[in-house]
Amino acid sequence: MKIIKANNYNDLSRKAANILSAQVILKPRSVLGLATGSSPLGTYKQLISWYDKDDIDFSEVTTVNLDEYVGLSSNNPQSYRYFMNTNFFDHINIDKIKTHLPNGIVKDTEKECERYNNLLHEVGGIDIQLLGLGLNGHIGFNEPGSEFEKLTHVVKLKEATVSANKRFFEKGEDVPKFAISMGIKSIMQAKHILLIVNGEEKYEILKQCLFGPVTPHVPGSILQLHSNLTVIYSCNKEL
Ligand code: F6R
Repeated sequence: MKIIKANNYNDLSRKAANILSAQVILKPRSVLGLATGSSPLGTYKQLISWYDKDDIDFSEVTTVNLDEYVGLSSNNPQSYRYFMNTNFFDHINIDKIKTHLPNGIVKDTEKECERYNNLLHEVGGIDIQLLGLGLNGHIGFNEPGSEFEKLTHVVKLKEATVSANKRFFEKGEDVPKFAISMGIKSIMQAKHILLIVNGEEKYEILKQCLFGPVTPHVPGSILQLHSNLTVIYSCNKEL
């Protein structure tokens, strides 16, 4: 495990972008595992700015995202596909056909999970998986109590998550109740994992993940067992 302390969020983002950029330079046909949320926004911005300066070429890259809400189409601003397009893919020379997220608007979600698992296999596995960390230790949509053995699967969202999301939707019935997420086993199969963690409020959970017991109660604790984990964190305290 390599642990890197960043000076602030910008520094964290630049360091993470450097690692992703090196991956793409060393292997132009890389498969990047990507995440949504606030943590990777600065990393995507930095990569876009290097692309604008001709310093990085995404034309041969494939991406696979961790998760997507069930029931939201790509033009819904709350969907993760929309997030990825607007915050990253629309601004670089990636072939959109090679950018993958679980499809949230299929009739048969179980079949979609199977398709996504096959896809992860067909693209040759994930070279590097970018991960954020939830305040309760979740990774992807794998909440405390999730089994370590799961591949991509349907997740029933916690009532608290559904309620918190209500503010983004006009009608209560439009708020997603389910998501499709790579499971912990899929995440652990990535060849390299890059965990980025920003802010004081995540200090305790990050410490538990990296140095506490490996337990499904803290999903991110499984990352200790990965043979190639890089953690970049920014917070006032040392780990
Ligand atoms: C995002 C994802 C989530 C986030 C986590 C942290 O695709 O799967 O696990 O990485 O919730 O979110 P932020 O970065 O917003 O603190």
